[in-house]
Amino acid sequence: MCGIVGGIGKEHLKDVLIGGLKDLDYRGYDSAGIALVNESKINLYRAVGTISHLEEKLPQEDDYFMGIAHTRWATHGVPSVKNCHPVASYNKKVYLVHNGVIENYLELKSSLLKSGYSFRGDTDSEVVATLIEKYSKSYKNRLKAITKAMNALVGSFALIIIFEDDLNTLYTAKRSSPMILGEGDGFNLIASDAVPIIKYTDKLIELNDDQLAVVKKDSINIYDMDLDEVSKIYTHKDPELLQKDLNGYPHFMLKEIEEIESVVRKLMLTYYQEGSFTFDEEMIKAIKRADHIIFIACGTSYHASLVGARYFRHVGKEASVYIASEWAFYPVFPGRRPLVIMLSQSGETADLIHCLKTVTENDVRSIVVTNTKGSTLERGCDFSILLNAGLEVSVASTKAYVAQVTALALLTNTLQNRRKIVKDLDKCCQIISYIRNNVKERIEEMANELKDKKDVFFLGRGYDYDFSLEASLKLKEISYIHSEAIAGGELKHGPIALIEKGTPVIVFVTDDVTASSMRGNIQEVKARGADVYVISTKSLSQEGDFIVIEDYDRYLSSVAISSIAFYFAYYVSLFKGLNVDKPRNLAKAVTVE
Ligand code: F6R
Repeated sequence: MCGIVGGIGKEHLKDVLIGGLKDLDYRGYDSAGIALVNESKINLYRAVGTISHLEEKLPQEDDYFMGIAHTRWATHGVPSVKNCHPVASYNKKVYLVHNGVIENYLELKSSLLKSGYSFRGDTDSEVVATLIEKYSKSYKNRLKAITKAMNALVGSFALIIIFEDDLNTLYTAKRSSPMILGEGDGFNLIASDAVPIIKYTDKLIELNDDQLAVVKKDSINIYDMDLDEVSKIYTHKDPELLQKDLNGYPHFMLKEIEEIESVVRKLMLTYYQEGSFTFDEEMIKAIKRADHIIFIACGTSYHASLVGARYFRHVGKEASVYIASEWAFYPVFPGRRPLVIMLSQSGETADLIHCLKTVTENDVRSIVVTNTKGSTLERGCDFSILLNAGLEVSVASTKAYVAQVTALALLTNTLQNRRKIVKDLDKCCQIISYIRNNVKERIEEMANELKDKKDVFFLGRGYDYDFSLEASLKLKEISYIHSEAIAGGELKHGPIALIEKGTPVIVFVTDDVTASSMRGNIQEVKARGADVYVISTKSLSQEGDFIVIEDYDRYLSSVAISSIAFYFAYYVSLFKGLNVDKPRNLAKAVTVE
């Protein structure tokens, strides 16, 4: 799960590549490296830590002709200089950067070891470099050597390769990991996504699986695995979606939480115009035909799917929700006419891409709800619902989660032509704005009180339970505090054993169907000494509740009050002095399984 970027012929190439790595660090940021080529020499710089650590090692001059760079999220081998990319092959004939995971690398490594090769680091990527070097001995045609290696690889890869005896050409190849080429005037660029490229050229080409490209200063030629040349297909990316700007905010997470209201309003305007819903009619027909909706997603998107499944059940459709990495191993297609809905902010999540292959092989139609037009899932699914939420930079997803739930609410209301949703969402927007202007200080207070706790529990039932799961995930991922979300009724089946004097328990009481049972649970945890923080809606509130919000229709809980939990996680992380936007061990797009 890494970001790679390469370029040839571009002025100030060092800066272009380093800028590209910064654009790609959402894909990983535990170490970084760059190979810069000039005067027939490959200069290699690598460093553990953020890209700024790498920058400290770089020379002042910036007159390089060609280069490749990499930001890493360690999969094979700890973050260390020897495991940084670019990696060199055994005889330093081949240098490459790699994004992806080679599943059979141990097998390939042991066979290369038997043939007399050895390795400097622990990565699967070094095995690929040495494999290409090995085939280059037998095949003068470099593309042939690369395809020979590709045939031996099991797993995912996007590669940019330099051959030590051809310092006028970049080679690139991919399978199941994204790769975009940018055609410039007298230069060409390559990267894991369009962001590092679009500043310099909008002539973008997406490489397909099992394609290779030969990239020179003035030309790009693309080939299939038989080495037949294929024509270039240009693709469009929305430059607005590629903008990365803090606009005066100290962190992207805070900026993105504060954008939630406008994201919801924009979605309403996109999918409801002049009194009618505007979703793709063919897609609506496909949904109406289906007798079972299968949601597949990961992490925060999985939590949004739980809410979405409730919406579908509410309009009379069977619906189930699966974690992508589980469904991938035990795929099931309930119903006679199932339809798959994948939720993915990035549209690049490897677990989902794996699942989509199975869905397609079984001739089941698919919809992706995504924030990323042109992403692998957007291109691969039969239909897509775009969230138009603008680029989400913070690793912890906030506005995209709310956008997913909002889009699914609009979609399911479309099935019954139920226009009241517009009023309901408008009410949510008022509440979001109220929280932003009037409740933030109260949330800061709660964050200050709980920032040094070891565990924080969230409780809820019904829609409040779905949202508790997301609130808990958000807190743990950016504050490193252990947290669990518990369905109120499950407390007495085990988790209540963890509650003792001073255990913080945050409880949502906004679902009128489940509110009175929740009040019972609150008494249970209070009786064991818990410090309880109740977040409720006016008509369900009781004296002593910590935060009380205006009433709204219960099904929109994840839209109306999600910002409370997001601000809470944000402030806890901030008060602990942590890296809010880039929590440890995580990455924005999880492009490995
Ligand atoms: C948490 C978070 C992750 C993602 C998950 C799926 O804040 O962002 O849990 O939701 O990695 O990513 P997407 O939605 O891009 O498929």
